[in-house]
Amino acid sequence: MLEHGSDVFALMPVVRPTFIIQPATPVMALSTFLTELDSLSAEAAEAFASAADQSTLEAARVQFVGAKSGRLKAVQKGLGAVDKTDRPAAGKRFNEVKQSIEAAYQSAVERLTAVGRPTACRCADPTIPGACRRLGRLHPITQTIDELKEIMGRLGFTAVDGPEVEDEWHNFVALNIPADHPARNPLENFYVGDAAKPQAVENASQPRDPSPQPLLLLRSQTSTVQIRTMERMRPPVRIISCGRVYRPDTADATHFPMFHQMEGLLVDRGVTMADLKSTLRLFARSAFADDVHIRFRPSFFPFTEPSVEVDMSWADGWIEMGGAGMVDPNVLDAVGYDPEEYSGFAFGLGIERICARRHGIADIRELFKNDVRFLHQF
Ligand code: PHE
Repeated sequence: MLEHGSDVFALMPVVRPTFIIQPATPVMALSTFLTELDSLSAEAAEAFASAADQSTLEAARVQFVGAKSGRLKAVQKGLGAVDKTDRPAAGKRFNEVKQSIEAAYQSAVERLTAVGRPTACRCADPTIPGACRRLGRLHPITQTIDELKEIMGRLGFTAVDGPEVEDEWHNFVALNIPADHPARNPLENFYVGDAAKPQAVENASQPRDPSPQPLLLLRSQTSTVQIRTMERMRPPVRIISCGRVYRPDTADATHFPMFHQMEGLLVDRGVTMADLKSTLRLFARSAFADDVHIRFRPSFFPFTEPSVEVDMSWADGWIEMGGAGMVDPNVLDAVGYDPEEYSGFAFGLGIERICARRHGIADIRELFKNDVRFLHQF
């Protein structure tokens, strides 16, 4: 029995207390940390993007990136619990997510401050020079044709058109151009089809070729329209025809395989060369200048007799403008006009030359390049 008051512990072995040192926080697996980061990142991005006003955005900012109790801060604290070996990877990922959350916040700030601020296109600044719209315009050849029609219209000539693909009757035969004439050489024309076919019609005094399939070609002159007009109407005839014609010429500054002519035709009783010359002079004065001169040089065309070359000049020398003459009796015959009763004059002028002369164009090839820098000048 132990005495009262004795130290009961005195006999007991001294047991030193053992302290187990627990880590401050439990170890967190890297994958858990990353999952947490990812969901935080997604939720923050969603909250910032959907914030409809400043106060919602501010609340989201405090919730996710608030300095004291923001969720990002909380996740950052968890970084210390990640195993040391995984910590660099976790830290790297943490920084990336932090940056992307901050960027999402910034873009939400910009989005909400832009609302309510007038955007550049909504407010008109009258001091800014206006955007100049470039309007299209008519080709200089078309402009010239319009003016020629206008001038000749005032002289009583009606504008008519004819086909560009012609038969030999209208392009040659009725115009008194016989089968052996060099102008009918296949190499001088753009025949459509078989140009080697023998010709049935020799000259205009013979009846029209009854062949069911006449040879066709791209018309080489607008004189075809003389025939087409006289075939369908009786004198008095007073017409012009402006349009494209085709010849296999090598292109140079004054030639092109396609070009434009203005054909004129006047048939009535008692028409003379004096009418032709005064008509052309009146035309030239209107088209160019008051002091323009007209010169006729003797020439030959199968469909006019006599025939002339027409030159015009003002200021610096003569320019060849085309051909003209009194309509050949054979031509009047071919269309059923009585050459004893009627006479007429015809002329054909090159429209490119008129256009080039009026605008100072040195090379007609420019007209067909379709370069808007050139065309815009007219
Ligand atoms: N057709 C002729 C040519 O193309 C021009 C011309 C027309 C000549 C009318 C006389 C009469 O060259």
